[in-house]
Amino acid sequence: MSNISVLFVCLGNICRSPTAEGVFRKKVAQAGLTQAISIDSAGTGDWHIGHPPDSRAGAAAGARGFPIDDLQARQVSADDFSRFDYVLAMDRANLSDLQALCPEDYTGHLSLFLDFLPGNRTGEVPDPYYGGANGFEQVLDLVESAADGLLSHIREKHSL
Ligand code: 4NP
Repeated sequence: MSNISVLFVCLGNICRSPTAEGVFRKKVAQAGLTQAISIDSAGTGDWHIGHPPDSRAGAAAGARGFPIDDLQARQVSADDFSRFDYVLAMDRANLSDLQALCPEDYTGHLSLFLDFLPGNRTGEVPDPYYGGANGFEQVLDLVESAADGLLSHIREKHSL
């Protein structure tokens, strides 16, 4: 079975992309596809390298059954484009930073994560870092729905 790899990217790698990693990891496991799909996350910024997820993100994800407290932030690098079939940005600023880093001959898929959530108005997972608890719930609502869309897409495209 060929391995499909997915990288979720936000700014700090402590709120949105680790949440997406944890949610997608669980959905992939529930589908029995852990061996077939590799999952990671990274940030475009370097401020939080080595840090665990923001405690608010960890609590909100954990309460919905997605444990993410063991993750560690890292910064995205150009090498990631040779390692990942899907590189998925949480917002347009992340996407434009990734486009600047992306080698011209990249044959994988670089897009907004919410492209896999049809009908979404803004296409972006809003940054919850400077807001209240509700922002983290909104992140989870969007991420859970988009993760379902992404998994369906991958299963169909790669016959999994
Ligand atoms: P994230 O949220 O990109 O979802 O991890 C942020 C985390 C940290 C910062 C900004 C956004 N920061 O400015 O440190």
